[in-house]
Amino acid sequence: MKIAIIGAGNVGTALATSFKRAGHDVIITSHDPEDAGTVAATTGARVATSNAAAAGEAEIVVLATPFSSAAEIAREIATAVAGKPVVDVTNRMSFGAAGPEIDTSSSNAEDLAALLPAAHVVKAFNTLFASKQVDPTSAGAGLDGFVAGDDAAAKALVLELVASIGLNPVDVGPLSRSRQLEGLAFLNISLNVAHGGSWQSAWKLIGAPATQPKAA
Ligand SMILES: NC(=O)c1ccc[n+]([C@@H]2O[C@H](COP(=O)([O-])OP(=O)(O)OC[C@H]3O[C@@H](n4cnc5c(N)ncnc54)[C@H](OP(=O)(O)O)[C@@H]3O)[C@@H](O)[C@H]2O)c1
Repeated sequence: MKIAIIGAGNVGTALATSFKRAGHDVIITSHDPEDAGTVAATTGARVATSNAAAAGEAEIVVLATPFSSAAEIAREIATAVAGKPVVDVTNRMSFGAAGPEIDTSSSNAEDLAALLPAAHVVKAFNTLFASKQVDPTSAGAGLDGFVAGDDAAAKALVLELVASIGLNPVDVGPLSRSRQLEGLAFLNISLNVAHGGSWQSAWKLIGAPATQPKAA
């Protein structure tokens, strides 16, 4: 698959590593082009001249930036992503008097879909810390890659991408299920913050029902 990753931080680096290892063609961008260049040099990804150029070339576009950049990026890529899957990896969190908080009345993925009405937004990879996006195992167990989305074809392609990097793909339903997926990530992050965790914990649904059509 030809995949554009927007964002070359922890997640952009981790997914570029996994996608290249799985044999995909990866194009990466960042705010500061030097950052994308560094990731490209270490992973074998290519650098594009702009977010729009990367999105225009790709079959799948992955948003791996803070959600605060989403509106600006959506304006840049809106035309290029029409009809394409846009994978939202972002998480939702703010800090209040009692520590980390989450607004569950919507989700970043649904907010992104409103910003990109011609694209097919799919939620994936957000429940895994970047270290687990590179190595999708924990305590000897293979991890799940939870995927939510409203467009069947776009979701099927993203489930295939999830499986290609060694995750067990789990279709959790429509894009509105992103509220729960962002909640799972929030819980894991807030536990690690509260208890000085090693950021190695991960979600796996034991005995998850098969959500993929059985091979003929
Ligand atoms: N870290 C994790 O383990 C983890 C796991 C799952 C989900 N997430 C979510 O994934 C997202 C990224 O997290 P991260 O840890 O990778 O963040 P990060 O290390 O801070 O990296 C963010 C990247 O986004 C880039 N960026 C910001 N605005 C941009 C723009 N307008 N155009 C292109 N690139 C832009 C930054 O570029 P510059 O550096 O050049 O400014 C940087 O490369 C967040 O929403 C986070 O909630 C994180």
